[in-house]
Amino acid sequence: MYSSEDQRRFFTSSKALLAGDIPAGMETPKTLVEGLGQLLRYHEWRYYIQDDPVLSDYEYDQLYKQLEALEAEHPELIRADSPTQRVGSDLSGDFRSVPHLTPMLSLGNSYNAEDLGEFDRQVKRMLNMDEAAQLAYAVEPKYDGGTIVLVYENDQLVRAATRGNGTLGEEITHNARVIRSIPLTAAFSRYGLYRVEVRGEVIIRKDRFATMNAKRAEAGETLFANPRNTATGGLRMKSPAEVANRQLEAFIYSFGYGTDEAGNDAVQALGTHSRALDVLTELGFKVPATGYEREALPNISEAAEFCARWEAQREEYPYEIDGMVVKVDDLVLQERAGYTSHHPRWAIAYKFAAKQATTMLENVEYQVGKIGTITPVAKTTPVALAGVMISSVSLHNEDFIRDKDLRLGDKVLLERAGDVIPYIVKPLEDLRDGSERPIEWPTHCPINDTEEPVTLVRAEGEAAWRCPACVCGAQNLQRIIFHVSKVAMDIDGMGRRYVEQFYELGWLRTIVDVYRLPYEQIAELEGFGEKSAQNLRKSVEAAKKNPLWRLLHGLSIHHLGSKASRLLAQNVDHVLDLADWTEEQFTNIKDIGPTVTQNVMEYFSVPLHREQLRELEALGVNVRPTDEDRPAAEVTEGPFVGKSMLFTGSLQQMSRKEAQERAKAAGARIVSAVSGKLDILVVGEKPGSKLKKAQALGTVVVMTEEEFLGQLAD
Ligand code: IVH
Repeated sequence: MYSSEDQRRFFTSSKALLAGDIPAGMETPKTLVEGLGQLLRYHEWRYYIQDDPVLSDYEYDQLYKQLEALEAEHPELIRADSPTQRVGSDLSGDFRSVPHLTPMLSLGNSYNAEDLGEFDRQVKRMLNMDEAAQLAYAVEPKYDGGTIVLVYENDQLVRAATRGNGTLGEEITHNARVIRSIPLTAAFSRYGLYRVEVRGEVIIRKDRFATMNAKRAEAGETLFANPRNTATGGLRMKSPAEVANRQLEAFIYSFGYGTDEAGNDAVQALGTHSRALDVLTELGFKVPATGYEREALPNISEAAEFCARWEAQREEYPYEIDGMVVKVDDLVLQERAGYTSHHPRWAIAYKFAAKQATTMLENVEYQVGKIGTITPVAKTTPVALAGVMISSVSLHNEDFIRDKDLRLGDKVLLERAGDVIPYIVKPLEDLRDGSERPIEWPTHCPINDTEEPVTLVRAEGEAAWRCPACVCGAQNLQRIIFHVSKVAMDIDGMGRRYVEQFYELGWLRTIVDVYRLPYEQIAELEGFGEKSAQNLRKSVEAAKKNPLWRLLHGLSIHHLGSKASRLLAQNVDHVLDLADWTEEQFTNIKDIGPTVTQNVMEYFSVPLHREQLRELEALGVNVRPTDEDRPAAEVTEGPFVGKSMLFTGSLQQMSRKEAQERAKAAGARIVSAVSGKLDILVVGEKPGSKLKKAQALGTVVVMTEEEFLGQLAD
């Protein structure tokens, strides 16, 4: 359909237009309208047909807006095939087409408070309202799934359809019937409604999506790309049983139509959109909850604040949302404001920052880990991704680069997985022009800055290349960072940044130095002072009393995790006992395998390592098992036996640690995050996001501190 040369040209022109430049051949309004039309059609083809977009949604929207603005200025240039003259389509011919009772339009987009301010002014202009007047808006999440349109007659579900091309949808009634959140009957007649069309979005919870994909991975099946595709694909499955398998949910967000038996409108009588959603809630539909996901706000600036608040907390929400929808709350005013051919004038989407972006892979740099693992890192042209500038992306290992066939100079598609860590989805192969160069995997340690080259090794069955004998000290730095970290010695207040600074200053060379820091000199450092130096000393002193497993884990022995460290700690009297252990002594311990055995034996065979442990002991670091190292007898009685528990917020009557100990003594298992597996959440003051998430899950028992203590006392 498009040659690769055309595709390259389209990509370059699109990026130029996005950067505010006019590409050659598009200098006049006429050629620009034509050019933009062509570009947008190309990107739609990449998105809808190839399922392989080269622009982020945000970038597409920006181009679309440019065309819209230009056409508004020059209406005589609007062509019938302009992307602005139709709504997108998902019709394929596999399902029966059915007409919607009213056309299903799209939404205009906004990206910030200013855009919303402009929207508000326009609405008021349409309504002949004073700009300074208050106009109330209803705001709710913009769910990122597949549209569903449900028709009820006589209180019965009679038909369900996808959005289709906006006028005709695909009939999927049999599939909708297996979605539990869609009621098969609903008492619309109570509100004088006889024939009704309601609209909503079918989505899958993020955690269900993750579990499903984990199962598919285990079974060796292909993975779903994202929750959205899982939902839209799910709606259009041939077998309802498979639809049921996906555990889809439908959030309903509005009436599209509603008449009484005589055929007269009976929706407007409800007064506001908010009230309409209250009614739908009452009738048993799953609707965004008022006071949480949705709110009626008295004016646009409060609506904008609500949008911004949701953008900040979108990650904690169990469903994918790509923005919020802001709607004029008054239903009569909605109709008065009217529609364009593309979208209602009374509603607008507030789009969150994009989660995908395209950029160029400029270079690959390398990092070394605590056990010498070499990690390649892509350096890219800086690009905004979900509100953060990205210029550095991990490439994990050599296989990742090979499997994706990444090359220097490639245009790459970036995504933020779980919205924390950005990663490269793929190179955009058809945008290559031949100037791309292969990434040469290094044979020698690329971090080593001494004269002495070290050959990298790759153990059988492992993905990582390692520098086996560090001569430059880079690995020591990583080991110290790990040693002080939360999972190992957990030295409060001494993170990566300080370790790097002290390392630079020559005060830290090995983990032993952590326990003999020059606090007087630290107090003199900029940004430190006497007090923080003393606090640091206190943390280090406290860490010296740590249980032995933490020290063992903090030695950075390859494959020795926290669990195996605990097992070893329980079975010695002194850490140096391990230096004399035979292979058998190790493998006699249940759950200690040959890999751990070999690595621990190797570690203790190095005289320097044994010497370091003696030095640590001399500095007062605990080298013997403590009570915490020894296994506690399993609690089989108590109010919380078999329950998983989590504490959040600040407790008033005891410390968090003490509360956890008491919960454990009463049989509870303490977990660290809110998930479907959590049974009980105990909340102190100012609980924050964990509480919200637990409430959203709906399966977690929430207890106050008093209730918790009450249960302990019973
Ligand atoms: S209102 C007349 N509200 O976004 C159109 N749409 O571009 C009114 N969507 O695919 C749409 N959440 O399915 C509206 N709370 C919400 C929505 C929402 C998701 C989807 C909708 C359609 C697209 C509209």
